[in-house]
Amino acid sequence: MTARTLSPLDRLLGDAQRAIETVLGAPPALRPNPAAGQAEIVLEDDERRHSAGLMRINHVGEVCAQALYCGQAAVARDEATRAHLLDAAQEETDHLAWCHQRLRELDSRPSLLNPLWYAGSYAIGALAGLRGDGWNLGFVVETERQVEAHIDEHLESLPSADARSRAILGVMKADEARHAANAESAGARVLPPPIPTLMAAASKVMKTVAYRV
Ligand SMILES: [Fe+2]
Ligand SMILES: [Fe+2]
Repeated sequence: MTARTLSPLDRLLGDAQRAIETVLGAPPALRPNPAAGQAEIVLEDDERRHSAGLMRINHVGEVCAQALYCGQAAVARDEATRAHLLDAAQEETDHLAWCHQRLRELDSRPSLLNPLWYAGSYAIGALAGLRGDGWNLGFVVETERQVEAHIDEHLESLPSADARSRAILGVMKADEARHAANAESAGARVLPPPIPTLMAAASKVMKTVAYRV
């Protein structure tokens, strides 16, 4: 059977459906949750709130990653680049589901501002993508490196008893490093200043707000 070529309208509807699933639903993970082998240790209230704040930041980070990659894929010129971006977004779905599950275990919830984070990241992704596919992949590398760095900070900061969150972040960190390396070998260009600095500033705002809201 011949694969049908998607029209711009098909793509738009597909993107809208994905946005709604990401923001409102909890898309299922394809891989088992890395926390499964770790016992749930009852945390003190302040520790549990801190863990939930950090895991909410990680969840928002994954919402933003989905939105960035979908925005970039929407304007990618080359089919191989589009496929690369959509593959990366698929793996992020596991991260999204694991963080969501951990938030529930910590008696907490995802950020109330997820629709806003998604819309902003989609727009940034599409703008970056319009500069061309080398830029598109360069954006993936920079995003993944920054996510990897904040996962490192969280692994330092999480309560030592929170082995379940640590197990999730450990696998996510390895995945993000691989996503960055794949984008580099697919032909990413190095983003010029001040773009990485602006991205880090935007992510700092997101982290400060998402810890609480
Ligand atoms: Fe991720
Ligand atoms: Fe990633």
